[in-house]
Amino acid sequence: MSEAFYVTTPIYYVNDEPHLGHAYTTILADVLARYARLRGAETFFLTGTDEHGQKVQEASQRRGIAPQAHADEMVVRFQQAWKDLHVEHDDFIRTTQPRHVRVVKAILQDLWDRGEIYLGSYEGWYCVPDERFWTEKDLKEGNCPDCGRPVEQIVEPNYFFRMSAYQEWLIDYITAHPGFIQPDYRRNEVLGFLRQPLGDLCISRPVSRLSWGIPLPFDSNYVTYVWFDALINYVTAAGYLSDEDRFDRLWPQALHLIGKDILTTHCVYWPTMLRAAGLAQPKTVFAHGWWVIEGAKMSKSVGNVVKPLDLAQVYGVDAFRYFLMRDMTLGRDADFDESRLAHRYHGDLANDLGNLLHRLINMLGRYCKGRIPRPGEVTSDESALRERCLVLVPQTFAQVQALALNEALAQIMSVIGEINRYIEQSAPWAQAKSGQLERVGTILYHAAEALRLTSLLLQPVLPERVAEIWHSLGWQTPDSLKDGLTWGQLEPGTPIVTGPPLFPRDIERVLET
Ligand code: MSP
Repeated sequence: MSEAFYVTTPIYYVNDEPHLGHAYTTILADVLARYARLRGAETFFLTGTDEHGQKVQEASQRRGIAPQAHADEMVVRFQQAWKDLHVEHDDFIRTTQPRHVRVVKAILQDLWDRGEIYLGSYEGWYCVPDERFWTEKDLKEGNCPDCGRPVEQIVEPNYFFRMSAYQEWLIDYITAHPGFIQPDYRRNEVLGFLRQPLGDLCISRPVSRLSWGIPLPFDSNYVTYVWFDALINYVTAAGYLSDEDRFDRLWPQALHLIGKDILTTHCVYWPTMLRAAGLAQPKTVFAHGWWVIEGAKMSKSVGNVVKPLDLAQVYGVDAFRYFLMRDMTLGRDADFDESRLAHRYHGDLANDLGNLLHRLINMLGRYCKGRIPRPGEVTSDESALRERCLVLVPQTFAQVQALALNEALAQIMSVIGEINRYIEQSAPWAQAKSGQLERVGTILYHAAEALRLTSLLLQPVLPERVAEIWHSLGWQTPDSLKDGLTWGQLEPGTPIVTGPPLFPRDIERVLET
């Protein structure tokens, strides 16, 4: 295998219900992983759930069940959603799994032994009735942001990680590795943050306040702060302390996909934690923008949360995936608007792609006895079409590796347009009328082969629809899809299969926009 590709999503809070934002990051990771597999890279795609902390403890208490039992029930919603959205992750990590707890404890113990963690005192604002700590900036007019009641300043012994010791190193590292934090405006944001003195990080919570967490291995009166536990998932799953060879191959290639909301934890806490633990940095942390609804962030209280599966049910999972990948310029916010999804569905997918297959299958039925024809002598038009498709392969991989997915898809769709125009201009129906059957075969073979190859580059986004295209064209997919990336794989004489429309036009809208 030529190279490794390791992509992660944030691990989602197990209490949440999967929504468009979670679905977006996860589908993005899935698409990148599928492109990497198509290139032939050793690929590892990780997602999972973040299961410790106050909120899970509180929710389970309200239900009167153990927090683990609560998490076990809740996690299924994420697992099912990813299955329904055709997400093929290689691993799903839960922070309550023993494999993860073991690694977190080992790292904590090592940092403690080497003096990277010390016992200090935590000062903060405490809401007695809510039993919750708040920082100065959380407070609303000096009161608890949740219940509005007065808060008390309290001082409590806690453990701290010497994060401040790494401030200079981190600034130098980020400056020397321009690809580490992307896009560049996020790197600048982190560097801006690092202009202020960096404090040490409080990494413990006393069991008396919060018991649902990983116990500190050196003091059982405390559990680990949830972010210190959660970030470590990325090394646990890659094989740290369990499969070192695999870890060494994967870890330097890691790409963390995150939303811009969790930039500091991933670009300040995490790199300094890794450094202190003597581990290398991941290759890239990429922060994408928000999906917003008419300019506003989705939130339960505003009632504008988009449920991904509702949309996928109307337009089909693949069309939904296509829309998300085609309509967000990675990094920027994107406004979610169902009419744009409908527009992409009818335009790019039904008209351009679906119609191309439909016409081809019709003509192969009418002029070629329902079989893939044998191509005869080619003209410069066929050579140009073949060349265009072959050049598209490295172009697409380069754009995907630069994370310019929307551009890659725009380019693939423009080649689909070129195949449609090639058919128009070569007019096989006119050639058939004048008895030029060999010419008809040449044209239809080239159009069909161009569709087969181009659709292979769409497979990471539209896995099910593209499999239908191949089925219709009678293409036996090779064991490794990478082997399909050459010209001339449709076998003359193979029967074609007429199926239902790829993207039916009679869809109904369920959402009011
Ligand atoms: N548990 C932490 C992450 C720990 S990672 C070591 C967490 N979980 S979360 O459930 O709140 O998920 C946050 C992530 O969901 C964001 O970073 C982003 O990937 C995704 N999104 C949530 N809402 C979103 C939008 N409206 N738009 C795009 N993605 C957003 O934070």
